[in-house]
Amino acid sequence: MSNFASTLIQWHGEHGRSGLPWQGQKDPYRVWLSEIMLQQTQVSTVKDRYIEFINRFPTVDDLANASADDVMALWAGLGYYTRARNLHTCAKIIVEKFAGKFPQQAEELCQLPGIGMSTAAAIASFCFGEKISILDANVKRLLARYYGVEQDIKKTTAHQDLWEKAQHIVPKQAVDMPIYTQALMDFGATVCTPKNPHCTSCVFQKKCIAFRENKVKDIPLRVKKATIKTVQSEMLFIVAKDHALFELRPAKGIWGGLWSFPESAWQDSPHQNIQPLQLSMDDFINLPKQLLKSSYAKARLLAPRKHVFTHRNLYFQIRILTIEQPLELPKDQFAWVKIDACEHLGLPTPIRQFIKDYLQI
Ligand code: ADE
Repeated sequence: MSNFASTLIQWHGEHGRSGLPWQGQKDPYRVWLSEIMLQQTQVSTVKDRYIEFINRFPTVDDLANASADDVMALWAGLGYYTRARNLHTCAKIIVEKFAGKFPQQAEELCQLPGIGMSTAAAIASFCFGEKISILDANVKRLLARYYGVEQDIKKTTAHQDLWEKAQHIVPKQAVDMPIYTQALMDFGATVCTPKNPHCTSCVFQKKCIAFRENKVKDIPLRVKKATIKTVQSEMLFIVAKDHALFELRPAKGIWGGLWSFPESAWQDSPHQNIQPLQLSMDDFINLPKQLLKSSYAKARLLAPRKHVFTHRNLYFQIRILTIEQPLELPKDQFAWVKIDACEHLGLPTPIRQFIKDYLQI
């Protein structure tokens, strides 16, 4: 075994985390579920939610056969809902195309929705002992420090370099892979942390180039992010029987030339603690205010949804107005379209996603 792997495994025996409900699992369904849940969510939050999920859907068949609603409801509060949608789609693929059995190799696993290369490596190494390294943000940081990689580790070339290094140090024996993978995760999360890593008690002190060259603070390289503004708006989903109202967006600007919902002007917002906007029909300048005022007052307001642009985060809240009959509106700017047949319209992705979600409710 490489020096690195044996030192790490020994460290894990004494100091690794224990008592997490997904640890020591060999069932790829359970490992996959825990890895997806842990992608953007803290261990402390995931623990109970993972158990709830497993109790409700003990097998991949149970998950595949569930309704999208049930899956989304069980995911509620965990955030990053694309994960839940992908999870459900992936379960169906596993059942339909793979007869309910997960593929055993990372190369195949990473073809499935929601499974990136590192997650695929986690599943393959935990469950099938594949000699493949995970390379999530924690491991990239650890290896960048250990090998003294001074480049921006988000760059493809640095990623490739770290990937080769990571593969070079995996244990020789497949049987050691599960514990090695867990040890990598635990070490990155508890010792080689982003801020204030525990270098004084670190088992890699003598080898770690960042430590030896006093560069721990500089590796990995911190790259200043472009300032990203957060803005908020409200969109009206106006429904008359089975039709909804769409407005053509001006050719110039965001979503130029696409059909969207009537939207209020964007307002700057704080980055965190997004609160619903308090608006009225007066904020929708192109619509006949008097005709819609009373429906607006009675409408259901949904929680803000997030859409990420390159330099903007948009939180848009959707208000669902129900009216008796479609209103007469200028045809060059507005269209009433059957809700379950609007996929032929050019719609912005988040609007398309909303309608998809709406149709499943
Ligand atoms: N983060 C991602 N996967 C994990 C795991 N299996 N245990 C602890 N933290 C994790």
